[in-house]
Amino acid sequence: MKTLITGGAGFIGSHLAIRLLNSGNQPILLDNLDRAEQNSRKLYQLQQVNRAGSVPYYECDLLDRDKLMSIIKMEKPEAIVHLGALAGVSPSLQNPSAYIDVNIQGTNHILACAGELQVKHVIFASSSSVYGEQFDVPLAEDMVTGRVLSPYAASKMGAESLCHAFHHMYGFQLNILRFFTVYGPWGRPDMAFSTFIRRVMNNQNLSIFGQGTGRDYTYIDDIVTGIMLTLVSSESDVYNLGSGRPVLMTEVINQLRSHFPNLQLQYEKARKGDVTSTWADISKARLKLGYAPSISFKEGFEQTVAWAKEHPDII
Ligand SMILES: NC(=O)c1ccc[n+]([C@@H]2O[C@H](COP(=O)([O-])OP(=O)(O)OC[C@H]3O[C@@H](n4cnc5c(N)ncnc54)[C@H](O)[C@@H]3O)[C@@H](O)[C@H]2O)c1
Repeated sequence: MKTLITGGAGFIGSHLAIRLLNSGNQPILLDNLDRAEQNSRKLYQLQQVNRAGSVPYYECDLLDRDKLMSIIKMEKPEAIVHLGALAGVSPSLQNPSAYIDVNIQGTNHILACAGELQVKHVIFASSSSVYGEQFDVPLAEDMVTGRVLSPYAASKMGAESLCHAFHHMYGFQLNILRFFTVYGPWGRPDMAFSTFIRRVMNNQNLSIFGQGTGRDYTYIDDIVTGIMLTLVSSESDVYNLGSGRPVLMTEVINQLRSHFPNLQLQYEKARKGDVTSTWADISKARLKLGYAPSISFKEGFEQTVAWAKEHPDII
């Protein structure tokens, strides 16, 4: 299957491209290599993809509607997996406009191109952040209220609404996947695990924000499997993709300490925009897609640390 991956040079996008190649599919990558400080990492990820097979790559901004239209017209993908976005909660509090531009207007452009050029299937990468702060857990797909805590979450919520509108207008198959904190080798450098491992490898203290926090951490391979299952599904729907097993920060610290016994912690106030905890109800994805995450937190964490130790210059 010919599949366009926006954000294809990113963490999830590059892993997905390799899985598609290895299973005989044809990925096409599109990215603008956003954030200069991460470019060497993204170029490394593109190299890893190219080692798995030859892949067309387009450097293109999601805000350049005409260029997007001409790429999609030329490549004629059967499916678009729209991962391209400004990701990360904290920076969205400093620059909400950039998040609205890329995550909402950029999604508007992708949906318009998909609709006008009759792409059959659009998969949109949404986030657990759309649930906001809720204490009735686990979080099922119909529990969204719109009362979110950050511009990032609001941009994903707004983009989800646009997806429904364009699905109604053009009739393509639409799947919205709400990812729950994804981690693993090549994990985004701004995310907690990368930050923790990088700091502890450089003998720096770790900052723990808030108390009693926990996350439904999901290993990258399970997320990629969830996307692959969605690509071969035939019904439009919204799915949570998580591990279904929340992990407390105390457990994360225990795992980290088992690899780095000398780690030093400092506790700080919870950051604005962050929810206290997440826990995905994955029963719908399990039933309708056959999604069954298989990597335990201990195993996934060990693989992440092993990768970081092999790549101290990239983590
Ligand atoms: N990683 C997670 O834990 C997580 C959780 C929930 C949702 N998501 C969503 O999954 C998707 C992929 O996340 P990721 O962790 O791989 O992030 P990432 O930052 O590694 O990948 C996103 C890619 O989008 C590209 N991009 C940004 N702005 C662009 C623009 N204007 N034009 C073209 N490309 C642009 C970036 O260069 C980057 O390579 C994002 O939509 C993110 O919001 C991720």
